[in-house]
Amino acid sequence: MTTAPSTIRRIAISTGGGDAPGLNAVIRAAVKAANRRGWESYGIRDGYNGLLMPERYPAGGLVPLTMEAVRGITHLGGTIIGTTNRGNPLHFPLQNPDGSWSEIDRTDELVQQFRVHEIDALVACGGDGSLGIANVLAKKGMRVIGVPKTIDNDLDRTVATFGFDTAVSFATECLDRLHSTAESHGRVLVVEVMGRYAGWIALNAGIAGTAAAILIPEIPYDIERVVECIRHREHTGRKYSIVVVAEGAAPAGGARAVLEQQVGRAERLGGAGQLVADALARITGKETRAVVLGHLLRGGTPTAFDRLLALRFGAAAVRALDEGESGIMVALDPPKVSYVPLAEATSRMKTVPLDSDSIKTARDLGIALGD
Ligand code: F6P
Repeated sequence: MTTAPSTIRRIAISTGGGDAPGLNAVIRAAVKAANRRGWESYGIRDGYNGLLMPERYPAGGLVPLTMEAVRGITHLGGTIIGTTNRGNPLHFPLQNPDGSWSEIDRTDELVQQFRVHEIDALVACGGDGSLGIANVLAKKGMRVIGVPKTIDNDLDRTVATFGFDTAVSFATECLDRLHSTAESHGRVLVVEVMGRYAGWIALNAGIAGTAAAILIPEIPYDIERVVECIRHREHTGRKYSIVVVAEGAAPAGGARAVLEQQVGRAERLGGAGQLVADALARITGKETRAVVLGHLLRGGTPTAFDRLLALRFGAAAVRALDEGESGIMVALDPPKVSYVPLAEATSRMKTVPLDSDSIKTARDLGIALGD
């Protein structure tokens, strides 16, 4: 959606959902690009909570993002303005007088808050949830540019999201470390990684880190296929095995491992690795340990790839505003950064295609995928 260029004086930046390495690089690039154009930048604290619950923030829910404020942050993990996955304005949690919870839509109020603070445009960094909100705000008349962020890499219409490369790199390093201890003890090590309903992190790290088996949400697994793989390795002299399990993986005909379901937020996944480890220990009789990499994949310094991508996205978001764009997401479309409608980017989740080169590569390498 394109609107006529208008005079922008003040922009806001929000970071929503789970953090991802590279968010600070986006903030810095957007603020510097805005500053070059003579625009002021403000950060909204904790997603949109800074505007929806300003009383919770002693110094105010909007943080002035001066050049000083964004100095030296390119390499830092996390986000200097905070984030949340509990403040979705479309499904804002509201406690009823009887103590139960329901959800309300606070997007009209949010648009009103942008007007009150004379914010002319928004750069919204987020995954499918946050960019879905950005799309609604754009439809309600806000000038909005989305920036695709998630370690899960499950956003459609962009070749990559920043944070994913860092997560895969760190998971691969962990698998490298786990190989030596697994081999020394002749154990099975089951490594659970994040990724929600997509297997990108598990598949990429599992291949790079030479796992014996990789279980992803896209391929419901039969534990017997993993057992066969472990026994085959055993017969050929490899007494240990590394099994990578995506947190969203589920057995054929079974359910995903869900830790918690709460009003106003996405379900929390967890425990898939332990379930696989228990089953493998029971069936093979081998000493088995489960390791959950969890939030370690979200923390730390972004890789050079993610930093560069994040800096390109942040600067491109401001250029897009300057060109009169709104309702779009900046996207990696090598070799360029292009613009795609937010509605398209958020209409479906990008999962691992079963006929993809990576799946074929895993099979050619003899990695068991549980089917
Ligand atoms: O979407 C990013 C992600 O890290 C998922 O991989 C994971 O399921 C989820 O967020 C965890 O969220 P939380 O921060 O609530 O533990």
